[in-house]
Amino acid sequence: MKNILITGGAGFIGSHVVRLFVNKYPEYKIVNIDKLTYAGNLENLKDIENAPNYTFVKADICDFETVVAVFVKHNIDGVLHLAAESHVDRSIKDPFTFAKTNVLGTLSLLQAAKERWKENYNEKLFYHISTDEVYGALQFDETLFTEETKYNPHSPYSASKASSDHFVRAFHDTYGLPAIITNCSNNYGPYQFPEKLIPLFINNIRNNKPLPVYGKGENVRDWLYALDHARAIDIIFHKGKVGETYNIGGFNEWKNIDLIKVIIKTVDKFLGRNEGESEKLITYVTDRAGHDLRYAIDSSKLKNELGWQPSLQFEEGIEKTVKWYLENQQWLDNVTSGAYQEYYEEYYGQKDEK
Ligand code: NAD
Ligand code: DAU
Repeated sequence: MKNILITGGAGFIGSHVVRLFVNKYPEYKIVNIDKLTYAGNLENLKDIENAPNYTFVKADICDFETVVAVFVKHNIDGVLHLAAESHVDRSIKDPFTFAKTNVLGTLSLLQAAKERWKENYNEKLFYHISTDEVYGALQFDETLFTEETKYNPHSPYSASKASSDHFVRAFHDTYGLPAIITNCSNNYGPYQFPEKLIPLFINNIRNNKPLPVYGKGENVRDWLYALDHARAIDIIFHKGKVGETYNIGGFNEWKNIDLIKVIIKTVDKFLGRNEGESEKLITYVTDRAGHDLRYAIDSSKLKNELGWQPSLQFEEGIEKTVKWYLENQQWLDNVTSGAYQEYYEEYYGQKDEK
């Protein structure tokens, strides 16, 4: 495959995937299509924006005609689909936007791929990036999510992602569209929008602001460094079996309150504060509605069949992450002030394409 469409490449995980593919595969043409919602930030890609094998297209994946035009113009033969509304709290307030982008946007891409590739599925692949949240919630004594776990989404976000997964399988089963789905656990690392737990708390500790812990802080999440997710995507895109699902996770479960204390300790260390000094910022707040108790991914299939495993230990990943946010305060400040949204016009002018 040579011409790869990456959707949502200006977002958190998408930017790690775009960077990895642009740098590792100079022979590929990488086309990044992104609507630049509040979560899309082209400053995430400054280091590769001038690469000869990279093109950015500002567009909504729900706009079917534009998507087809991109397939035709760039002769797309592989899709890495990451574009989505991704924040659970926002989905509780505005489920329609989630259904539109996550369900209809995915359908628009599937239909474009089907129409464009119909004549020849050889060497084509539609790779859909999804989440472990589609499996629902585990109790503390339950075994990890496997690829066979039944779907049981609870939030509007996870319901929309589950629906998109079903559409991808339906296109594979009905039309033979070559597709792979992966379901990954919670990601952390550089370039994550500071509405999500880890960057929000790093930023708040830096600014001596309250740290809003939902409920009792007892919910459990399974954390993976975003670049390790991107590496897994690279391996699966090239070696995964068409029609298969792979779980991606680092066997790294943390109770929120314990994770928060590690973040506090690490930020305090870097800022030269006394150890644990910022624990006074912890503020217990009303729980998230329908808050899933525990996610935990069994990624043995990926390890056994394709040899992937995380490259970073969690402590190392958290150190790197905290250091990155503290050393890139301008990035954080541009995001919190909204200045990052001006970058598209600054760099691309009025043109939609480089
Ligand atoms: P993100 O919110 O940081 O980025 C999403 C990107 O999609 C943004 O650049 C945004 O502008 C773009 N986008 C949104 N709506 C669009 C539309 N209609 N058309 C075109 N572009 C649009 O998300 P993320 O955390 O990087 O997640 C990326 C993907 O990975 C999502 O599909 C998400 O469900 C999945 N995922 C995320 C995690 C996680 O922990 N963040 C874990 C597992 C799976
Ligand atoms: O599991 C994968 C999912 O992980 C992805 O599919 C989602 O796109 C991604 O946003 C993430 O979902 P979560 O809801 O788990 O992530 P979030 O960072 O919002 O919250 C992590 C945990 O921390 C969760 O139990 C809620 C809690 N939390 C979150 C925030 C923002 C707090 O206690 N306080 C907060 O302010």
